[in-house]
Amino acid sequence: MSDFIPVCTPLLGGNEIKYVTDAVSTGWISSSGSYVSKFEEAFSSYCGVKYGVAVCNGTVAIHLALAALGIGKGDEVIIPSFTMIATAFAVCYTRAIPVFVDADKDTWNIDVTKIEEKITSKTKAIIPVHIFGNPCDMTKICELAKKYKLYIIEDAAEAHGAEYDGKKTGSFSDIASFSFFANKNLTTGEGGMVITDNEEYFKNCRYFKNMCFPVDAPRVYSHEDIGFNYRMSNLHAAIGLAQVEKADEYRAMRIKNAKRYMKNLSDCPGIIFQKDQPNGLNVHWMNTIVINPSEYGHSKDELINHLKDNGIDTRFLFVSMNHQKSLKDYGCDCSGNYPVTDWLTENGFYLPSASNLTEKEIDFICDVIKGFRK
Ligand SMILES: Cc1ncc(COP(=O)(O)O)c(C=O)c1O
Repeated sequence: MSDFIPVCTPLLGGNEIKYVTDAVSTGWISSSGSYVSKFEEAFSSYCGVKYGVAVCNGTVAIHLALAALGIGKGDEVIIPSFTMIATAFAVCYTRAIPVFVDADKDTWNIDVTKIEEKITSKTKAIIPVHIFGNPCDMTKICELAKKYKLYIIEDAAEAHGAEYDGKKTGSFSDIASFSFFANKNLTTGEGGMVITDNEEYFKNCRYFKNMCFPVDAPRVYSHEDIGFNYRMSNLHAAIGLAQVEKADEYRAMRIKNAKRYMKNLSDCPGIIFQKDQPNGLNVHWMNTIVINPSEYGHSKDELINHLKDNGIDTRFLFVSMNHQKSLKDYGCDCSGNYPVTDWLTENGFYLPSASNLTEKEIDFICDVIKGFRK
């Protein structure tokens, strides 16, 4: 066991070198190479969805999805207050306004009982985020979307292979986005993908992603709309394809690690875990704990420092969207209280979560946590 356990490292355990070498040796290193479409097909079909459009990160994947649906100035988009800032920023890129809903105290996902009160005549879409790989209550979210004629864009950046009612996350919405950043369950280093069953949205994504060049037509340099360069390179897609080949194996590793953490710490008062969404399969992107300081005997910060002294890396959790100066300055309504999100931020943090964490490492981390309890 090494004397420093990082919070996450990528697992590149399959055909990555073979495919990247092939891309390099054939000279196909830009976005035109065949690994891009192979990766798009492999990942979208893994999710049970028809079309995939690979892009350069998970933030622009959300933006591209919103653009493909025509979300823009004057629209409101409902997002959780407890999410990575990318969800909100992507809405801002379209000139629409993000509107926040607090988290559920058990699943830590958007509180579906609080969505309806935020819907106005300007609301166009809901972005449920499957936090830490735990699927949202998609039954309720789909019901609300149908009732108020809203689009759903799943931000599944953290939830590769997660399931709800036996279906993969990303397959419940009009369009969904993923991130393949290095710490994700499946990675391309930097990367993202939009997936959809809708041919029109798919075509829009391909069009906007590549500077609004005509799709599947001779390249002419007249541009009728403002587009983006969100292309993924063949090198990144080569890694992505190798990762999808291992998707089930890596998913099982993350789940197994999470179960070991939970079992080991089940007898330690003051340690709270995320509760699985009923009917869901949580893929545990990040092993997150929330401390109840009066039961545990120490604050979150004291425990983080103690873990650091023992060579164990941790990370803070997201800060609520309503506390972000950037979003306030942009014009979001940042008034109101988001108590569950604040509780998570104040008391929670990530423990090491790499897929290939060893049992010995998990046991050591848990012993350090248990041994520190007063
Ligand atoms: C919920 C969520 N959405 C979007 C993103 C953005 O992805 P990326 O870092 O690939 O831009 C992340 C990144 O971790 C995320 O956690």
